[in-house]
Amino acid sequence: MKFSHAILEKNVILLAIATLITVSIGGLVQLVPLYTLESTIEDIEGVRPYTPLELMGRNIYVREGCYVCHSQMIRPFRDEAERYGHYSLAAESKYDHPFQWGSKRTGPDLARVGGKYSNDWHVAHLIDPRSVVPESIMPPYAFLARKPLKANDVVAHMQTLRTAGVPYTDEQLAAARQDLLSQANPDAGDADALLARYPKAVIGDFDGHPDRVTELDAVVAYLQMLGTLVDFTSYKPELDYR
Ligand code: HEC
Repeated sequence: MKFSHAILEKNVILLAIATLITVSIGGLVQLVPLYTLESTIEDIEGVRPYTPLELMGRNIYVREGCYVCHSQMIRPFRDEAERYGHYSLAAESKYDHPFQWGSKRTGPDLARVGGKYSNDWHVAHLIDPRSVVPESIMPPYAFLARKPLKANDVVAHMQTLRTAGVPYTDEQLAAARQDLLSQANPDAGDADALLARYPKAVIGDFDGHPDRVTELDAVVAYLQMLGTLVDFTSYKPELDYR
């Protein structure tokens, strides 16, 4: 045994080959089960693609770099679950391209901020964070309220996501513009059709100006749906990590 090991140590090519074989076995043992497991990402009821307005709001969230200060991933630890709610499930971000898990929390995690505050609170907070949270160090985003939402490319964006595996239907693509307006103006739109296509969509005149759709409308629509799609009163994990 001692002798054979010496051969390996003295012959660099043999050592390299033996190392490669050993490391490959280690890698395969880690990787192969993930490809065969059906529950790597569990299918969870309620998870759906973003509505056109939410999607546009999400794009602004990415553009403004909100992820630099906010994570969207509640880890399965007791302190996190008590502060933010049920830990994040992989399925909850399966339609995110790119995902917004983030790596830094200058501000709180936003994975379940949907429904935590009113639309008015979000509008006031984004325009001037210190008007509602005096000690806040979050920068103001008042310009979002002045900028009309440019949504010419919403259909193209949804189509692109479809090539990446997000299951937008032809019907959803055809109705995208109408759905966007329906969500931002409760009086003018067809709310029932929107809700049939996107259950649990939050409909509202978010920024207080029903006559126009601003970037602020889109960001608030997005924030208000975060973490609300899965019903955790009936959710049973396939594997219980706690
Ligand atoms: C420089 C860091 C920073 C950036 C960038 C930032 N935030 Fe914040 N955010 C904070 C801090 C700090 C708080 C906690 C104080 C407060 O509520 O204002 C906060 C709080 C929040 C809250 C309330 C969360 C809760 O549970 O109370 C929301 C919603 C929010 N931010 C959204 C955004 C959005 C949307 C953007 C991008 C347009 C953004 N933030 C960009 C630092 C930041």
